[in-house]
Amino acid sequence: MHILGIDSSCDDTSASVVDESYTIISNIVSSQTEIHKKYGGIVPELASRKHIEMIWPVVDEALSKACLKLDDITALSVCYGPGLIGSLLIGCGFAKAIAYAKGIPLIAVNHLEGHIFSAFLDNNKPEFPFLALIASGGHTSLYVVEGFGMYSELGRTRDDAAGEAYDKVAKLLGLGYPGGPIIDKLAHEGNARTFDFPRAYLPESFDFSFSGLKNAVRLEVSKHSKDISNRAIIADIAASFQSAVVDVLVRKVEWAIVKKDIKRVVLSGGVSANNGLRKKMSEMAGERGIELFMPSIALCTDNAAMIAAAGLHHFKSGNLASLDLNPKAYLPL
Ligand code: KG4
Ligand code: ZN
Repeated sequence: MHILGIDSSCDDTSASVVDESYTIISNIVSSQTEIHKKYGGIVPELASRKHIEMIWPVVDEALSKACLKLDDITALSVCYGPGLIGSLLIGCGFAKAIAYAKGIPLIAVNHLEGHIFSAFLDNNKPEFPFLALIASGGHTSLYVVEGFGMYSELGRTRDDAAGEAYDKVAKLLGLGYPGGPIIDKLAHEGNARTFDFPRAYLPESFDFSFSGLKNAVRLEVSKHSKDISNRAIIADIAASFQSAVVDVLVRKVEWAIVKKDIKRVVLSGGVSANNGLRKKMSEMAGERGIELFMPSIALCTDNAAMIAAAGLHHFKSGNLASLDLNPKAYLPL
């Protein structure tokens, strides 16, 4: 069995072939960072246009790396939301056209479900139930996952997503886009204790909030406007900001472990590529005897292998989409 996954939800065009045991045969990601970085964020119209240009070449490459043709594909799994509507339209339209022309079954996958399923692409797969933290550019949510398709949301961000906060802070510091990997790297050079940025723990809630932290960084940056090109100061701000984000994410997961009495945790989404987060979450998991599942760095950020992996489960359950599938910008899990 070969599932062809397609993801075009944001600014990456991706296609991947995954087999029936969740083994990745190929996983191609065409990044649009070069196009968007001069604007300091994603320009939706430019993203859609690039998806149109790249969708065939990326699918072609995924198939040829897997030594397969479209006729060898068992089912086509496409991300239909949430995301940028123009971007989603390209992937969905393409997948529907191929499914119709070749008579291949179509599967519709929620992008957030895809992120959770990235954990199943590793050799060591989580058993149910587990807690899943999705921390990405568009979402920061915590779920209890009881089984395939059984997700209950414990909390979500009330304002900025963690990745969005990283990107906005990087812009304030003049560091470029996307901000997460740049701040992650710079944070190693800085002292995380230099600035005592706020941590919104929101007691009695599993919700998150990062806008106060972002504002605190903005105020600090304005105090240092004269020496903002001083790398040591920027590194200290980056390290102090990262430490505040990581503290909140780790503490919330720790509360959920205690409150829900669940001993397995899956990290997913672009921010779970963060070195500081991976380190602190691993320490907490070690202290509490928790099994922690962190996808490899390449599978934390957007990719089509995770969409194929989630699609594989839907296919096995007979949960197919029809050819009138429409993408949705807003699509809760
Ligand atoms: O999951 P993803 O690729 O796309 C969405 O679904 O949003 O996540 C992208 C986000 C961006 O905000 C990016 O800055 C952040 O993930 N990110 C990171 C790191 N790598 C990517 N944030 C912190 N540390 C990183 N190493
Ligand atoms: Zn994503």
